[in-house]
Amino acid sequence: MGVTAVVGLQWGDEGKGKVVDILSQRADVAVRCQGGANAGHTVVVKGRRFILHLVPSAILTDGILCVIGDGVVVDLDVLDREIEELGRAGFPVDGRLVVSTRAHVVLPVHKELELLQERSRGDARLDTTGRGIGPCYSDKHARLGIRVGDILEPAALGGRVTGLFRAYAAFGRGGLKSSIEANLAYLELHTGLVKRLAGDTGSLLRQSLSQEKKVILEGSQGFMLDVDHGTYPFVTSSNTGVHGLATGSGLAPARIDRVVGVVKAYVTRVGAGPLPTAMEEPVHSEIRQKGGEYGATTGRPRRCGWLDLAVLRYACALNGVTSIAVTKLDTLSGLSPIKVCEAYDLKGTRLDRFPARTEVLEECEPVYSLHEGWDTLEGISRTQDLPQAALAYVERIGEAASAEVELLSTGPGREDVLRLGS
Ligand code: GDP
Ligand code: IMO
Ligand code: MG
Repeated sequence: MGVTAVVGLQWGDEGKGKVVDILSQRADVAVRCQGGANAGHTVVVKGRRFILHLVPSAILTDGILCVIGDGVVVDLDVLDREIEELGRAGFPVDGRLVVSTRAHVVLPVHKELELLQERSRGDARLDTTGRGIGPCYSDKHARLGIRVGDILEPAALGGRVTGLFRAYAAFGRGGLKSSIEANLAYLELHTGLVKRLAGDTGSLLRQSLSQEKKVILEGSQGFMLDVDHGTYPFVTSSNTGVHGLATGSGLAPARIDRVVGVVKAYVTRVGAGPLPTAMEEPVHSEIRQKGGEYGATTGRPRRCGWLDLAVLRYACALNGVTSIAVTKLDTLSGLSPIKVCEAYDLKGTRLDRFPARTEVLEECEPVYSLHEGWDTLEGISRTQDLPQAALAYVERIGEAASAEVELLSTGPGREDVLRLGS
């Protein structure tokens, strides 16, 4: 198959990094398309744990070309550090990583603005990752942003940064600590890095497809954090679903052959915003502990909830999901019964669509079914050896998603996976 998109179907941290790592064993090119260093994708290979923020998770697989595409907002400091760490770990990126000249650059001033915005929200703050994502995308859409390719035009760069600060002053943001000079110096500092990596990635990808290469689009965040379709305003600032992957890679949407939706066996959320199926104590703390539910980017504890099929159905419908990868089923081992949210009840009426307003979502009561648990999944490497109750749980996910469960992940390692289906 030509292009496979991998999309998180919940609130992020579903295990996309692990799934991309597995799928990249049979691919040629892998692409990050949206988001930025707010992402933290974990891959565990031979007991070594890697957390990737900007470089595609496929970098750990030999011979794959990795691309940071048009729609990503690039933190050059993080990228520089990540490349250095990968090199030290024995995974040099030279000749294997290309960054789009169209991608926007997160500037130091964006991080300052984010801090000010979060502070100004008071109790209504979003608990963002502090990576400058929102302000960078805001400037991009206001047509004020600085793109990777701009760094290659030093004669014009000063004018662009000055123009940005002029606009800030016009908005009454004159009191920023960050200066034109400091932001310009930051960009100039990274000129060497950009010169080494920048390219026309969209054109490269289209060419790869014409050569019958297999391409993986690695989604970041989760669909419920999508700026249009998620739990607004408690979302990130990009389109995290398949739409964002098409535009952010520079490929025509119709070129995407396969959409693999990644579903954690329960849900987690880091940062503010509604989580209708939040688990009760002490189960909540037990699952957080057992699942290691602490942010891969910020280390913040993640809130944990029961599997939410209302979310799953909504996310599958909007992403045209063609198959599912279920992760972290092992974390639920030993728990019985396991609750699953079948639908939402709003003031006595069962909702047949996902509410657009957060205020409404907060009033929804999950309608739960109870599933029998299983003891352990340890040592199981064949589908036929799965406990009946675990298999039934996975089948329920496939049924709600109206898609085949293709992969079942039972541990963090590359080898902890069962390939189901035909
Ligand atoms: P991503 O952002 O979607 O790539 O997910 P994260 O890397 O932020 O979070 C997923 C966490 O779960 C990481 O620590 C993974 O190593 C881990 N993980 C992934 N799949 C499994 C699994 O099937 N079982 C267990 N126990 N851990 C898993
Ligand atoms: P991966 O790719 C989980 C959350 C933040 C915050 C909201 C907005 O690892 O799944 P932002 O910094 O993007 O403006 O923050 O989105 N968030 C994530 N939560 N996983 C992620 O990425 C996330 N990226 C952003 O916690 O609530
Ligand atoms: Mg993550």
